[in-house]
Amino acid sequence: MTSTRPLFNAYPQLKDALPWRQLADLPTPVAPLAGLGANAWIKRDDLSHAVYGGNKIRKLEFILAEVMAQGREHVITFGATGTNHGVATAMLCQQLGLRCTVLLFDQPESNTVRDNLSRMKKFGAELKFCGSLGHTVLRFYANPLRLSPKHYFLFAGGSNIAGTLGFINAAFELRQQIEQGQCPMPAKIVVPVGSAATVAGLTIGAAMAGLRTDIVGIRVAPSHLGPIPTCTVDTVGQLMKRTCHWLSRNKIALPPIPPPTLIDTYYGEGYGVRTEEGDRATAKFADCGITLDQTYTAKAAAAYLDSIDASSDAQLYWHTYNSRPA
Ligand SMILES: Cc1ncc(COP(=O)(O)O)c(C=O)c1O
Repeated sequence: MTSTRPLFNAYPQLKDALPWRQLADLPTPVAPLAGLGANAWIKRDDLSHAVYGGNKIRKLEFILAEVMAQGREHVITFGATGTNHGVATAMLCQQLGLRCTVLLFDQPESNTVRDNLSRMKKFGAELKFCGSLGHTVLRFYANPLRLSPKHYFLFAGGSNIAGTLGFINAAFELRQQIEQGQCPMPAKIVVPVGSAATVAGLTIGAAMAGLRTDIVGIRVAPSHLGPIPTCTVDTVGQLMKRTCHWLSRNKIALPPIPPPTLIDTYYGEGYGVRTEEGDRATAKFADCGITLDQTYTAKAAAAYLDSIDASSDAQLYWHTYNSRPA
């Protein structure tokens, strides 16, 4: 485990501008997925924390450091009833002595939903069941506590600028592992896209780190809430733009950044609703010892399997789901 981050090695000037706390076990391992083909590789973000891993921990290293640097004491966030982000946020808030409230909207029942609700309670989060996504978003944005200097409103999935920087750092971490010969330069990285900071950060970070890699996001969340776009090339692009502005304001010279790539065709009937391809991917990954969830990783893994069948180039599946037992 390293006690600094490769982003700070690449840009030492960020040490003063960017609050960071060591909360994750990084670097996460990168390994062949031999059972799936000679070109198949996996990045094990499921092991990013000894108690509860997954992709959120990387984001929260920067987000919760920002919360503390701003002198705030109480994080308010939102997610579905099975939110992995809620669990990771509750756990790390408890570790840092911060209060945590999670506003929850309904999603289809599953073991993940049950486990994650009990984990959030165990980690001391205050849970507020709000019903539909629309009601939840309203209670998040029209919240009187927004006027309080002690509260920090954290967008779902930890997808703000600080969270995106966590995944820019992840691209530099992968570059280090490629330089050390731990894996080949992947032609493609496949990730699920929900609230977007994972794909946004990797897309910016791969360009900054000089990776010759396409970042491919598999959309697993609704593209629109009524008429409002929520998970589209434009919404991901907006988050990338805000993050690039932040970097430019902090005197980082950026290379050309490509627009995000989003594939819609693995989404199926809805958020959290299982798909046949997803179930097949879950069974294949289980044979390799990797557990997927039906909401995010099964759908991304289905796309990944199609992709490794279609090309002999090295391809990396970025595993974003916790694998630590409840
Ligand atoms: C297991 C898992 N994978 C992927 C994602 C999507 O990441 P992002 O929200 O950064 O798009 C999430 C988001 O909640 C998640 O919980």
